[in-house]
Amino acid sequence: MLKSSSFLPFSVVFSLCLCRISLKKGLSIRDQMRAAGVLDDFLKHIKYDPVKKYQPSQGSVVREPIANHLDVSALRASSGTPQKFLVLFDTGSSNLWVPSTDCKSPACFNHAKFQPSASATFSPRGQSYNVSYGSGSVAIVLGSDTLRIQSITVREQELGLSQEEPTQPFYFAAFDGILGMAFPSLAVGGTATALGGMLEQNQLAEPVFSFYFSRQPTYDYGGELILGGTDSQLFQGDITWAPVTQRLYWQVALEEVAIGQSVTGWCSQGCQAIVDTGTFLLTVPQEDIESILEALGAQETSYGYAVDCSDTQSMPQLTFGIGGARLALPPAAAYSNGYCTLAIEATYLPSQDGQPLWILGNVFLKEYYTIFDMANNRVGFALSA
Ligand SMILES: *[C@@H]1O[C@H](CO)[C@@H](O)[C@H](O)[C@H]1NC(C)=O
Repeated sequence: MLKSSSFLPFSVVFSLCLCRISLKKGLSIRDQMRAAGVLDDFLKHIKYDPVKKYQPSQGSVVREPIANHLDVSALRASSGTPQKFLVLFDTGSSNLWVPSTDCKSPACFNHAKFQPSASATFSPRGQSYNVSYGSGSVAIVLGSDTLRIQSITVREQELGLSQEEPTQPFYFAAFDGILGMAFPSLAVGGTATALGGMLEQNQLAEPVFSFYFSRQPTYDYGGELILGGTDSQLFQGDITWAPVTQRLYWQVALEEVAIGQSVTGWCSQGCQAIVDTGTFLLTVPQEDIESILEALGAQETSYGYAVDCSDTQSMPQLTFGIGGARLALPPAAAYSNGYCTLAIEATYLPSQDGQPLWILGNVFLKEYYTIFDMANNRVGFALSA
């Protein structure tokens, strides 16, 4: 279902998380996209560049609610009136962009648009890039402005202003733009990342951010992003730490995958897992899809991998060996996808080192509070509260 990306030397595909965003009609964006047949995947470029060392200081800890509108970032305009945007905080990409008043695409008509002339702090940078996603490219022109997220202020933050956006899926998205939180090396055009700006300008109390996704999201509350810290109220038990294996994505080694009591052996030569808040499902390497369907008793259908709804409680759980711990995904998380389908899909790309690549999307992140440690390049997992 993915478009070929063979024109890119390195390309990666992910699905945007549209799961928690509800529209007033009561249908989630994801449902609407599914209904419209446009539940598409995305892809993006890769570039490598190491992350800078952080000097801790008296920065902020900011809690951003993840609700029907995900999160808000405000780019301050000259008059003191902020231009506000809802952005997807995406650990699977690194570019920051918002729609601009130059954009004439349908997707820009129903979203907030940045007006450069209304901001005295805006500077054009001139360069243009295509930030590619599976369903098409967002054409951006680079500029810079003050970025604000509550008490976090980053001056002269580079940001992309969209000139053109594909209708699918951006027209359907409840967010206006995307704030990428992966490593700077992944940023198309080598542009400065928002997190890089926060670190350089000492805006975070600690060089850490963490995500909590509620298992039962409501219209008003889907979870929280904590920028600059963690909240022990939102998890229980010990934190399992896993080092980042490749500083592009928040990617860690996956030591084993078990189905029920059986270790599959799929990772006997090593596996990799990307922790991606911008992916909804759990994605499974293509070569393992058949086996996993068989083991879980699922059938491939036009609407996904169907399971017998009456059986879901007795189905085996999936367990992931990460950082020496065994992190289980209970049947309720792996199966109750709302349609009696498995909350999994095939991963469409090889990992850069040839090991099978999994993507731990929201389905997994609802079970595990996740800490992204930028000072030590490691990811922490703890059972969600
Ligand atoms: C972006 O893609 C479009 C369409 O393929 C192309 O015409 C344009 O030159 C590209 N822009 C850049 C900056 O690569």
